[in-house]
Amino acid sequence: MLNVQKIRKDFPILEKGVIYLDNTASSLTPEPVLQKMLEFYRQYRANVGRGIHSLSQKASAEYELARAKVVDFINAKSETEIIMTRNTTEGINLVANSLNWKKGDKIVTSLIEHHSNFIPWIRLKNKHSVDLEIVKPKEPIVHGLLDPADFERAIDDKTKLVAITHVSNVLGTITPLKEITEIAHEHGAYVLVDGAQSVPHMKVDVRKIKCDFLAFSGHKMCGPTGSSALYIREELIDEVEPLFVGGGTISDVGLDYYTFEKSPMRFEAGTPSVAEAIGFGAAIDYLREIGMENIERHERELTKQMYEGFTGLPKVEVYGPEPECRIGLIAFNVGDLNSHDVALALDVSANIMVRSGHHCALPLTKNIIRKPGSVRASVYLYNTRDEVDKLVSTVGEIAETIAK
Ligand SMILES: Cc1ncc(COP(=O)(O)O)c(C=O)c1O
Repeated sequence: MLNVQKIRKDFPILEKGVIYLDNTASSLTPEPVLQKMLEFYRQYRANVGRGIHSLSQKASAEYELARAKVVDFINAKSETEIIMTRNTTEGINLVANSLNWKKGDKIVTSLIEHHSNFIPWIRLKNKHSVDLEIVKPKEPIVHGLLDPADFERAIDDKTKLVAITHVSNVLGTITPLKEITEIAHEHGAYVLVDGAQSVPHMKVDVRKIKCDFLAFSGHKMCGPTGSSALYIREELIDEVEPLFVGGGTISDVGLDYYTFEKSPMRFEAGTPSVAEAIGFGAAIDYLREIGMENIERHERELTKQMYEGFTGLPKVEVYGPEPECRIGLIAFNVGDLNSHDVALALDVSANIMVRSGHHCALPLTKNIIRKPGSVRASVYLYNTRDEVDKLVSTVGEIAETIAK
């Protein structure tokens, strides 16, 4: 059981009385993470991996300690496998632009992806004539559940990459990753997992899911904005060309040559987001202390409560499957109302922050929800049953008073 009241005291923004239910977009930041970043700025603010002086040495040590925490958190083998990035999008683009693509290579993805795990593949298709196959969820499509059998059909020996989300940011569905990864590997394809909505909410172990790449966002898991990571399986490091080159990435440079440093340095050109990475490390400590299993259980309870609350309301349409098959979030519409109007009404009338619109998932929105957008409420470790009650009752009032 989580001691939610104790946890809430760590999040200064909650003192303002907001009900924050936009955790899928970005989470709030707790005091220990803020303190850790302030400590960097106040006590040892310097660049990393460059200076010989003591401040730089201290900053470098803290930066590398944060990386080691990421290694541990997802059960990677070593620091070699972890690239510090600014966001999930950067990690996915690094993979998309750094593998050696040939005409006729195939990429398999799905209809429920976030744009960040979709647009890079369309671009590759247009630029390098790779084939792109988009797997749809099984029927009823509105549940958004992916079936390994459909991947069995889509993946063949030409498939170089399967790029798939672990948890949908609109439907909350959990992808059967292990099965899909097995199929991909049988055909010699790599698997890139978009972990933006799984790593913050459940225990993710890269050696269990056996993925080749995993991108996820520190800013969605109590870390600061600008903090994230990309996992690259050790054996693939040499196949991935650094996206940017420059300071910090090389072991030698002459007038007409350069040689790369080992990973991860070779991928981190220029001054990295030092304070943010150090804060990310503190966020990992914070989550581990509370326990990922406890966080997942708490979110599942709140998701069930939201689901039952919404499905009991007239005029409210909920997207996605039963609560057992999903985690953390519910997308819905209220009668004929535009989703932005509902989000605005929730803010103005009850101080509730939710996301509205297409949630950067237009292929899903157009083909599965089939409306211009939806309202999305997403929970995290600091949300309470009372907040969910308030959300459901306010949506009920909106449905009753202004929706047709
Ligand atoms: C499933 C999924 N993938 C990718 C992203 C992009 O994450 P970031 O903004 O950290 O790049 C998001 C953000 O909401 C997401 O939900």
